[in-house]
Amino acid sequence: MTNIPIDIPLSLPAPDGVLKALLVITFIVHILFVGLMVGGAYWSVIFKLLGKEDPFYERLAREILDTVTINKSLAVVLGVAPLLLIGLTYTGYWYTANMMTVPAFLSIIWLVIFAFLFLYAYKYTWDSLGDRAPFLHLSFGLSACAIFAFVPLIFLANINLMLLPFRWDATKGFIQALLLPNVLFRYMHFFVAVFAIIGFFAAIYFWCRGRKSDDLFYMRSQKLGLKWALGGTLLQSIFGTLNFISLPQGAYSRTLLIHIAAALALAAVACIALVRALLTTSGKPIVAAVALLGVVALLMSFVRHTVRENLLREPRMVANQRTLEYQTSLATFLKTYTPESGKLLSGEDLFKRYCTSCHARDRLLLGPSTQYMVQKYKGKKEDMAAFVLNPKKVNPDLPSMPKPPIGQYEIEEIVEYILGGSR
Ligand code: HEC
Repeated sequence: MTNIPIDIPLSLPAPDGVLKALLVITFIVHILFVGLMVGGAYWSVIFKLLGKEDPFYERLAREILDTVTINKSLAVVLGVAPLLLIGLTYTGYWYTANMMTVPAFLSIIWLVIFAFLFLYAYKYTWDSLGDRAPFLHLSFGLSACAIFAFVPLIFLANINLMLLPFRWDATKGFIQALLLPNVLFRYMHFFVAVFAIIGFFAAIYFWCRGRKSDDLFYMRSQKLGLKWALGGTLLQSIFGTLNFISLPQGAYSRTLLIHIAAALALAAVACIALVRALLTTSGKPIVAAVALLGVVALLMSFVRHTVRENLLREPRMVANQRTLEYQTSLATFLKTYTPESGKLLSGEDLFKRYCTSCHARDRLLLGPSTQYMVQKYKGKKEDMAAFVLNPKKVNPDLPSMPKPPIGQYEIEEIVEYILGGSR
């Protein structure tokens, strides 16, 4: 038994490949701003704490926080496209996973609302509360960070659950979905990326702002950003590997490996550029590193896409089979159903309609007689039904039997008629 849904025969607004390419691209842009939002919130809390010792950090915390409220709006707006696209391209799988974890999934809405309110409170009470009630002030920032730590888990649990239809029966709710392979390692992979992204952003942002100023603040912030970017990128070699080896079986393929290898090579070159950026004052290595890692991010988004397609290949075959059965039984039902009688055709009627062109009672037509069937399948109704549902070659002297255009239910009726009736 599996609860894989049948396909929904609705036409898409654009070819499947176009929608999936858009999904890969819009997703990576969205995740970039999510990284800036989450990473920025963490930076502004961490450096606020360090700011007690060193006013540089206090200023850095505040300047980063100014960017967070803008980036969070962009993250939300840019999240709409990938959300709609995934709903369109993986409809049955995506919505099933959502339904299975519905309280957690819907909680994203109010959790994110609270996180944003906390962020604004943190930002706009910086002067008024910062000195008088520092703990209260900091708790606003911490609350936003705590929520930001949790929300990605909900998304990841869902998107992962969607890819494992064969485990749907055994998975009850969000907590169990969290424990499926890959979720936790992928979460760590995401978080390290967040810190690398905010590091990059800080390096570029403060480099741009410091170009016309000799304020040492900018130079120091830029170097700090570079260190986080480099540290984060290097750490990904560990978390990326953990993520990779924890992928569920069936996810791997040659395309996947080729893309990962290409991404790793580019990331290594980007790290060299980052080291050079740390050692010089020129902006060029930063631009090179960002361009390289942009390509890496795109490749990684494509890798995720390949994982999705690989894992869903088999479930899709099951879904196609079920769709076919559903459509044939619907078609037979509509052919035989009359509102007055409200009854389906009997096994005998169905046999006459679908089998007698090739099978007779006591002699060979195109196929063997029903007497032969009774002899061979007496007491083995299921075997006979299985054969009729999916006919295989049996007798080399006879042609193959084509698959009849009826579903499981009708076949069982016919088998009952032939075997049961001739007892
Ligand atoms: C287009 C012709 C055709 C139709 C229609 C057809 N069959 Fe057959 N059937 C065959 C042929 C040919 C064979 C022999 C196949 C073989 O031995 O490989 C066969 C074999 C069988 C067998 C014997 C399998 C075995 O184990 O030797 C059964 C049972 C059977 N058909 C049931 C049905 C039923 C029930 C229907 C109606 C739903 C049906 N067939 C419709 C052509 C047909």
